[in-house]
Amino acid sequence: MYSSSNKNQIWSSLEEHCKEISKKSLIELFNENPERSTDFSTSFGDLWVDISKQIIDSKTIQLLSDLAEESKINQFFEDMMTGSPVNLTEKKPALHTALRAPKDSKILVDGKDVVPSISETLEKMEKFSHNIRNGKLLGSTGAPITSVVALGIGGSNLGSVMALKALSKFAHSEITIKFCSSIDAVDLDQTLDQLNPETTIFLVTSKSFNTKETLLLMENAKKWLEGSIVATGLSKHLVGITNFRDKAINCGLEGSMVFDIPDWVGGRFSLSSAAGLALMISIGADEFSNLLSGMNLIDNKTASESFESNGALLLALTDIWNRSFLDYPTMAVIPYSSQMSDFPPYLQQLMMESLGKNNQNDEHELGSSIGSVVWGATGTESQHAFFQFLHQGTDVVPCEMLGFSSSYEDSRQEQQQQHSLFANLLAQSEALAFGSGTEEDLIPEKKLKGNRPSTVILAPKLTPFILGQLISLYEHRTVASGVIWGVNPFDQWGVELGKSIATDIELELHEPSSSRSTDLQRMRNSSNEVLMERFRILRDYSQ
Ligand code: F6P
Repeated sequence: MYSSSNKNQIWSSLEEHCKEISKKSLIELFNENPERSTDFSTSFGDLWVDISKQIIDSKTIQLLSDLAEESKINQFFEDMMTGSPVNLTEKKPALHTALRAPKDSKILVDGKDVVPSISETLEKMEKFSHNIRNGKLLGSTGAPITSVVALGIGGSNLGSVMALKALSKFAHSEITIKFCSSIDAVDLDQTLDQLNPETTIFLVTSKSFNTKETLLLMENAKKWLEGSIVATGLSKHLVGITNFRDKAINCGLEGSMVFDIPDWVGGRFSLSSAAGLALMISIGADEFSNLLSGMNLIDNKTASESFESNGALLLALTDIWNRSFLDYPTMAVIPYSSQMSDFPPYLQQLMMESLGKNNQNDEHELGSSIGSVVWGATGTESQHAFFQFLHQGTDVVPCEMLGFSSSYEDSRQEQQQQHSLFANLLAQSEALAFGSGTEEDLIPEKKLKGNRPSTVILAPKLTPFILGQLISLYEHRTVASGVIWGVNPFDQWGVELGKSIATDIELELHEPSSSRSTDLQRMRNSSNEVLMERFRILRDYSQ
């Protein structure tokens, strides 16, 4: 549907062009074009996106834009934002942008306007979070709720964890919000340590309400509550956030305590849905609304700006270039802000679950690697951890540095430190690109060859409005890469097999030789059977 025979031709031209441009260094590219830094930078909403230190020239961007055009990227975004079933393998829309569209919009799915139900959920969230923030939500013993424990995993966890940390300066000072996603028993124990069941509420977020980890955590949470609350009062301490309200109600949750996630929102795109309830409780409905406005600003810009000034598309093009042509398998994301420390893990799911695929959905066989390993950590700490590898390692890792021009506080001291952070960001991107230059007398070990690509994204102060813009920028960049590469960015079939094998193995660990699929059993004999046996021996020995 979103392909063209011309795509192969453009792809071949890009391969040819790659051979040519790879002979040049970034120093040469900068010398050739004095306007380079402005030619390859754009302001996008309140963000400044600079790709000038990527190994590209205007021909690269032209060819990549042609490729995007042949992939009908603009049409795709229009279809996506108006509710067409762009998630082809699951035959449904991917309508996360509707969640932050203005309340007077009209967006039809199967002939029905979805905006009223989005507004209804948002209002319910606002009321609920307002009550907790004002001490009006009471637990079953009459004590006000002051602690919120959010249970959920993957897309039902990572976005909220990231955003809560990023916006911690906006957090309500008297409400404790904790997250737990692991089935490692220690995790829940530690999360609940020091919390009082009478004043604690659990937000159980699971779009499918079928995720083993989350359901197990919910059952354990119930047991913990039962220690001090009579069973009939439990429902006052349990909130469900899901697309399957019936399943939540069957698990003992009260209908009025269930918030709906629409079917057409993917987990990793769901922060602007009811999955963002923990964040709204923390920062309040007004700031949550600012986050949504930031997202909406970039949604509109992505759909309307032309290639050269479209930050999301330029980043997608760079990703395709670095992965499929320059053959760099990973990319590092380095936020120069400790508040953004959870941004790399959040992006890992967004980008790797969306793009870690090899089943291109059109007749065009791109025949190259797609999707990158995304990793990273905050600068300046990472400078003292893995930057040595980035500067002198034998593999080139394109880096993406995120900087913020101001800190939260206006104090001189804080602003001074902000200068320091940004100076470090610029220094690193300069050293990566240009290396140690032409200093002749350096011993080989001290030489940095440079020519290592990086992108800089500069934002103003990290507020909900700015975070919203960043999230939307990365969402659309990811979707655009998937569309151009010809994979469906909205499904994640790859994770299903492991889940069903785990169920099978768990049974077997409890009860050896229970009935199992013989094929799988045969495959495991060589390795997993032995490992299971070792596990049982060690388990029984240490009991
Ligand atoms: O890890 C696979 C996955 O299906 C993710 O896509 C999703 O975000 C996560 O599990 C959690 O799913 P749910 O919200 O249905 O519990």
